Amino acid sequence: METKSLSELREEYKSCTRCSELLKSRIQVVFGEGNPNAEVLLIGEAPGLNEAKNGIPFCGASGKVLQELLASIGLTRDDVFITNTILCRPENNRNPAKEEVENCRNRLDTLIQIMKPKVIVTIGNFATERILGKKGITTLRGKVFPLLINSQEMKVVPVIHPANLLYNGRNPELLQQMKQDFQVIASVVQEEKKQKSLGEF
Ligand code: URA
Repeated sequence: METKSLSELREEYKSCTRCSELLKSRIQVVFGEGNPNAEVLLIGEAPGLNEAKNGIPFCGASGKVLQELLASIGLTRDDVFITNTILCRPENNRNPAKEEVENCRNRLDTLIQIMKPKVIVTIGNFATERILGKKGITTLRGKVFPLLINSQEMKVVPVIHPANLLYNGRNPELLQQMKQDFQVIASVVQEEKKQKSLGEF
């Protein structure tokens, strides 16, 4: 059973050297940010340049979209915890390599064990495949997948990556779909709250 704290895990990965390719251009490890007691954990792909410079996940253009989507369901970054599938920026924003995702597997599993979130939002293909072992965000998006980790029940909701909206010139239909998927997150969070309050009686 994992007994580490979140800050111990953060400290442990600050000087991680598992991925030699990522190390070559690393500015810093972007461990994650937000409420350590959050019931909602958001997992993106990998830090971009802004994120690597600031040490904060989703603090660039994609982050603005993410904040807008969170706001559409009455949440702020402080209500959730945000991390990535891998913690170091791949040069030129290339896709994370399989080996890099594997090297970061234990870290993400441990984070989930420590936080015990009720809801995991996987942002884009990489995070979704990493958590659910399934490919194809366009068919998986906005659906709810139950997941059992160490006898802890969680709900996983895959969503389209905000970068897709930016590549598509903020296509209004795509934004609408993304907002619908966030409504799914809102109802799962609401349901979890209901269950929790019932359990308190
Ligand atoms: N895209 C991601 O997947 N993660 C970030 O932190 C920023 C952009």
